[in-house]
Amino acid sequence: MPEFPAGFRWGVSTSAYQIEGATTADGRGPSIWDTFAHEPGRVADASTGDRACDHFHRYAEDTALLAGLGVSAYRFSLAWPRIQPDGTGPANAAGLDFYDRLVDGLLAAGVDPVATLFHWDLPQPLEDAGGWLNRDTAARFAEYADLAAARLGDRVKLWITLNEPFIHMSMGYGMGVHAPGRMLLFDAFPVAHHQLLGHGLAVSALRARTTSPVAIANNYSPVRVAGDTDADRAAAAAYDALHNLLFTDPLLGRGYPDAPGLDPAVIRDGDLDVLAAPIDVLGVNYYNPTAIRAPEAGSPLPFDIVPLEGYPRTAFDWPVAPDGLRDLLLQLHRRYGDALPPIQITESGCAYDDAPDADGRVHDPERIAYLDGHVRAVRGAMAEGVPVTGYFVWSLLDNWEWAEGFTKRFGLVHVDFDTQRRTPKSSYAWFRDLVRR
Ligand code: FCB
Repeated sequence: MPEFPAGFRWGVSTSAYQIEGATTADGRGPSIWDTFAHEPGRVADASTGDRACDHFHRYAEDTALLAGLGVSAYRFSLAWPRIQPDGTGPANAAGLDFYDRLVDGLLAAGVDPVATLFHWDLPQPLEDAGGWLNRDTAARFAEYADLAAARLGDRVKLWITLNEPFIHMSMGYGMGVHAPGRMLLFDAFPVAHHQLLGHGLAVSALRARTTSPVAIANNYSPVRVAGDTDADRAAAAAYDALHNLLFTDPLLGRGYPDAPGLDPAVIRDGDLDVLAAPIDVLGVNYYNPTAIRAPEAGSPLPFDIVPLEGYPRTAFDWPVAPDGLRDLLLQLHRRYGDALPPIQITESGCAYDDAPDADGRVHDPERIAYLDGHVRAVRGAMAEGVPVTGYFVWSLLDNWEWAEGFTKRFGLVHVDFDTQRRTPKSSYAWFRDLVRR
């Protein structure tokens, strides 16, 4: 493994609804994911996040796992409905107390707390008022950011406003695969603009409370053209604009790209200045490239997503393509140049069907190979001049994987969801040794 510069941030990531459980403790209100997961037919194994990894009660044990791993940072998310059960009004002090304990425990263990404000668990009352289709949700988000930062302020070492606004829009409001389960296709565009507006307003709210750096975590997928016609190339460009450019161009001062579904009527005077509030770090979540060709006649979409051939696949059937991460980082560097802030890879990881062997050990050589390839890809991009300052593995723990329930295991630590027993996998030891070096 090539050397990384001193001070490079090694971490692991999780999110609130996927690990915490305790969904009614200390006055927490319902989120859209509580509602959605309890609806029949939404989740592969009909499970919910009611208990998840019971991290709410086991956070001290999980902090010890982080300390043992030796990571310098831990990215987690705050559950908005713990802090504002109705999505508006004063903070629920008991909800904030949990994150207070967590943050203090992390600092005592020598681990930098990295907090994401929104990892998809919108308070249900805000969804009842239109969710992110409603412009007012952006203002509510900034109010919540202010309450969170007033309490956790400078003890959080990096603030992340939104997690993957593209995935939340497309899966949650476009295709109905995630909460809130709406199927609006391209009529979901207001969800893009209002999330980005909320991000910009939250950046200002955070700046007023903390000197810690502020970021957003976007999902990116470099696009491969599957075909050689002009129509295939146009389809790939349309998909690229939607997935990769829509949530980055306006933040870095370029305004919106020409993307399918973009509705200028949603954008008000002055909004683009709010969106372009300077950020200190660009969070990059990367899993795989996307192969695109021209759509079949009559398709409701201007592109067709097809399997990417020629790569091994994870248990999620996602291609294992570290070269895609290098391509992506070089593309970001090329497109945005000096406007590109330092990048941290805020998620990178893979699902495999890991299970304890007869001795109770969990061997996951595929995950080690996956991480090895992706860490090298990052180092390669850095050698070519891309400013990358951190890498977080998704995830610390096997957890509740949204519409896939408990069927997809992404952790460095195996979790038995019946007993809540945690067993570090061989990838945990591998990552610990990497971080130590
Ligand atoms: C990302 C999400 C994260 C997890 C991974 C596998 O899109 O941000 O919560 O589900 O995928």
